Parts: sequence; C-alpha cells; structure tokens
Amino acid sequence: MKHWRIDDVRWDQFDPQRLDPSLVAIVKAAAMVERNGTDYGTYLNRVFHDDPAFQAAAENWAVEEVQHGDALGRWAMLADPSWNYQEAFARYQKGYHLPLLGKESSVRGSRTGELIARCIVESGTSSYYSALADATEEPVLKDICRLIAADEFRHFKLFYDHMKRYLEREKIGVLRRLAIALGRVGESEDDELAYAYYCGNAAPGAPYDHASCIAGYMSRAMGAYRYRHLERGIGMILKSIGLPPRGRLSAAVVNLAWRFMQHRRRRFMRLAPV
Ligand SMILES: [Fe+2]
Ligand SMILES: [Fe+2]
Repeated sequence: MKHWRIDDVRWDQFDPQRLDPSLVAIVKAAAMVERNGTDYGTYLNRVFHDDPAFQAAAENWAVEEVQHGDALGRWAMLADPSWNYQEAFARYQKGYHLPLLGKESSVRGSRTGELIARCIVESGTSSYYSALADATEEPVLKDICRLIAADEFRHFKLFYDHMKRYLEREKIGVLRRLAIALGRVGESEDDELAYAYYCGNAAPGAPYDHASCIAGYMSRAMGAYRYRHLERGIGMILKSIGLPPRGRLSAAVVNLAWRFMQHRRRRFMRLAPV
C-alpha cells in the first residue's frame, strides 16, 4: 500500500559537504514525531470504531507516518554518526505521551472536528516538507522530503474526503470549524515537537526546558519556509474549514500569517540563538 519504500531512497548519493546543522537538528525531532504515528493511529481506530473503511485507511496512514520517521531517522544518523535514532526515540516514547491516548471519542468534540484537525496537521506537514526539500542542498534529504511531502498531500486528501462525508451528517458550522483549526495550529507549540527536539538534540542529562526547546525547533523550522510554502499550506487550511483556498481572503490571510510567522521566528531566535 505504500507509495515508496526506504530502499527507494538513493542513500549512496549522501553528501556530507552539503549539510546544514540547523536542518539536522530539526530533522532529528521530526523523525520522532513521525515515528510516533502508531499511537495516533490507535486513537483514530477507537474514535472511528464503527467505520471500517476509515479504520483501514487510518491504519495505512500510520504505516506511512512511521516510515517518514524511519527515513528521516536514518538520514539523521548519516548526517550525525554519533546520533542514535532508536535510542532517541525510546527516550521520547518514555517521556512523552499523546494527551489523547485512551480517549473513546474525539477530543475535537465530533468526528468532523477530528478530521479537520487531521487536515490542519497534513497542511502543516506537506508545506513543511516542501519547504525543507527546497531549503536543503543535501541531495538525499531533498529526495526524502519530496517523497514525504507527496505522502502528506495525499494524507490531506484522505482526511479531507472523509471529513466532507461526516460534515454532511454532523453539520458543524464554519465558526466551529475555524475554532478547531486555530486550536490545532496553536498546539504546534505544545510538548509534542518541543520534547522531540529535546530528545534529539539535548546533551545527555540536560534538563528539559519547554520554552528553549520549542524556540530551538521553531526558529529553525520557520527559517526554512518561503512565502509560497505558507501560501499553499494556508490555502489547504482554508479549504478544510470550508472557505475559498484562493482569492482575496486567502491572500490577506497568507499576508498576515507570513508577518506573524516572521515575528514569532524573531522572538524564538532571541530565546534560542542558532
Ligand atoms: Fe508524515
Ligand atoms: Fe501525514
């Protein structure tokens, strides 16, 4: 069912001369968050307990997310031979637990809401890996990020199509959908990424500090974005809410979001100078 396999990546093209340490640090963190996809798959399985078609799709989705983690983890070990992906992920799993594990129904209040939140995440990941692919000069990372980005665009479509199906039944208003989307965007600064950044990059024995870890991650990640990446991501977010992905509204939102992102990036850079 996978669209590509780890062995399809041209690992022998790896070029250590073209590494950017800033990107290595965020790839290590992203590898762990992706690898944790299985836990999210378990949660989705419970929330959609009587929808076998969606359950099957979500199971396949989780397999692809895990592969994203494994590919990024393998690359990070090439980039930094002193780093061990499996050990770092074991630390992450021990110290971070998805706040929704064990829940029987969606933390978003409805299945439509759950699927909108998934669309927001896939809008973020598809634009993020497109940005990383464009930002890196290292050919293997470029290759991996392009493959992952293509999966994330497909994931968006998967969740979007199921969301439309549930929306017809649950009829959630546009303001509620907007609130769910904004809520999920805000969660990107929670522990999920920050703790992964810590497990991937902190010196052994160093204490975990949320503020400096999220700043370390975000300042680097935001630095990879160009306007066009944000433009595409925002268009997808608007589409998930039921608003036009292109046009004057979209252009105004992208403009605002870009300025906000640069403002946040400067703030994060002050907290965690590169
Ligand atoms: Fe992914
Ligand atoms: Fe995805």
